[in-house]
Amino acid sequence: MSARSLLFPHFAKILHGGDYNPDQWLHAPEVIDEDFRLMPLAGCNTFSVGIFSWTSYERQEGVFTFDWLDDIMDRMAKAGNRVVLATPSGAKPAWMAKKYPEIRRVNASGVREPQWHRQNHCWASRVYREKVAIINTRLAERYASHPALAMWHVSNELGNDDLFGQCYCPLCLAEWQRWLERRYGSLENLNRAWWASFWSHEFTAWDEIDPRDWSMDGLSVDWMRFRNWQIKDWYEFEAATLRPITPAIPITTNFMGLLPYINYAELARSVDVIADDQYPAYDLDDPEMVDSAVKISFKDDVYRCFKPDRPWMLMESCPDAPQWKPIMRPKPAEVHQLEMLQALGHGAEGTCYFQWRKGLGSREKLHGAVVDHSGREDSRVFRSVVSLAEKYEKLTPILGSTITAEVGLVYDWEARWGLENSEGAAGRNWDYESVAYANYRPFWEQGVAVDIFASEAEFSPYKLLILPQLWMLKPGVATRLRAFVEGGGVLVSTGYLGICNESNLCFPGGWPGDGLMDLFGIWNEEYDTLPDKRPVPLAVEAGHPLAKQAAMLAGKEVCASLHANGAEVVARYVDGRFQGAPAITVKRHGRGEACYVGSRLDLESLRVLARDFTRRLELTKPFPAEIPVGVAVQQRIDDTQRFVFLENFTPHPQVVDLGGVTASDMISGETRMGLLTLSPAQSTVLAIPR
Ligand code: GAL
Repeated sequence: MSARSLLFPHFAKILHGGDYNPDQWLHAPEVIDEDFRLMPLAGCNTFSVGIFSWTSYERQEGVFTFDWLDDIMDRMAKAGNRVVLATPSGAKPAWMAKKYPEIRRVNASGVREPQWHRQNHCWASRVYREKVAIINTRLAERYASHPALAMWHVSNELGNDDLFGQCYCPLCLAEWQRWLERRYGSLENLNRAWWASFWSHEFTAWDEIDPRDWSMDGLSVDWMRFRNWQIKDWYEFEAATLRPITPAIPITTNFMGLLPYINYAELARSVDVIADDQYPAYDLDDPEMVDSAVKISFKDDVYRCFKPDRPWMLMESCPDAPQWKPIMRPKPAEVHQLEMLQALGHGAEGTCYFQWRKGLGSREKLHGAVVDHSGREDSRVFRSVVSLAEKYEKLTPILGSTITAEVGLVYDWEARWGLENSEGAAGRNWDYESVAYANYRPFWEQGVAVDIFASEAEFSPYKLLILPQLWMLKPGVATRLRAFVEGGGVLVSTGYLGICNESNLCFPGGWPGDGLMDLFGIWNEEYDTLPDKRPVPLAVEAGHPLAKQAAMLAGKEVCASLHANGAEVVARYVDGRFQGAPAITVKRHGRGEACYVGSRLDLESLRVLARDFTRRLELTKPFPAEIPVGVAVQQRIDDTQRFVFLENFTPHPQVVDLGGVTASDMISGETRMGLLTLSPAQSTVLAIPR
């Protein structure tokens, strides 16, 4: 095993378990007894406890009881399980909401909401912070040295609700205005940064600034930043109630994939362990299953790169169907395994479920769980969990192995907010995410690893750096891109690069701004956002080496008109508004290149470019031969072996050419060489000596 830390110190297992809510069963102790009989049978070893349990600890203000949790913690320790103990702030007690109305959120119409639901407290309420600090301190002091305590789970899915946790109460508005004061120092600076003379919006006092005014997109982007600051500040406040009492226990909170409004790249800096909640609906009958797999792999790579020195985990996933999906189909065991191995292949070392046991009532009573209402260990889902646990035993050698990538891709939440808040670029053609997925996919198809990160990251470790729609250039990014190319790196950008600065003000003097026109050797004069999805033919310049691979490429949806000022033209528009203009260009800087792709390319064209880069830059692939489309391949390595994860996301058998290596199939135990056939939805892991 390599030097990378385990998720839990001294616990050399793939974490497997889930959200466990014994507080819903205190009236039925026999059910809890049964849980502890079933847990080892299911091969589960890690449980998140107490996520929404506040009323079971403090039914009356200031009167605490932890008896049930004492018992659960002791039984967990005896069973050798680890507990991820939650702070209960995700759901406030009704008595508290009645006595202290200020803890209830105020909606955009200025109405204070009723108690209802969950994850809807005010972020600035001093009363709520006091109450949370008291309960968290009690929990931390009580279980500080308990052998079952392995990690803290702060609250639940911070910011997850219909309003993305927005509160417009006077306390939050005052906090927003103070945040602006800190950011801008003066109203003059703020008015300039927001172009506030537009529609006579210049502010003369901080308390005039209402975040609901969407007429200035700089304001809207800053409101997103402020909301993220509030969420992060909340997390750090809760972590600070725990850390001094349990300094050795890691603290996390569960993220929600690539939720557009939460800048997880920022929040990731504050947590000790990266944890995600993931609910894809993989279905072999779904013609878009491969697209879904690409999106999940992309997200997994984003998560892996948040903390490259530590594995990440799925805090929630489902062994069956969640009740909130419009279509609920039983999840076959092979699809369950496929989903989980995909996460492990991308660097996770734990996959837990929501939920261990189905409750008998309320909103989530029909949500998939390890233990069904029948309570039976011979249910289909229970057996699927057991079967996965058996595989996890065999996969223990992967613990500590890592992934290295030669390709980097910038996915930047703030750039996304800038683009999506800019009328004229936003709308039908705004799609930040789908362009990022499209540019990632051809590398995913080849099994070429891609690191994904925000624009603040270090670019120098990569041979190839991809910028899908880096609309917003924060200070210093353009300089670092230049250094990357001058250092021999190959940079590829799509259109919508460098349109705005961090205030979402357009760069004057032409696009891409902040000096990038010179780096790319182009001026991107205009954009044509097309009325339909018709392909836009692009002719590769005769004589350009790429022409040997494809004489024609195809764009779609958005086209940029380019002028080559020092760049070599790779392809031109054949017709349309920009007929004859350059569509793809490259400017060389020694060994480095800055390549600009002015139209969104279709998948086939993206494949042509990606294969060209892979060949020219000799990017590492797990196998020399082409991998069938729809089969995902990820490679983890340690000092002596490489672990190649193979996942067939298609409804057909697929044949993978192992290209001369002799591998041991960690799941079947068989030796593999030559051609390996994967049945539909089959997944496995090959161990190959290095
Ligand atoms: C998550 C949440 C869980 C549960 C689950 C159902 O978003 O954190 O508490 O509600 O969804 O899928």
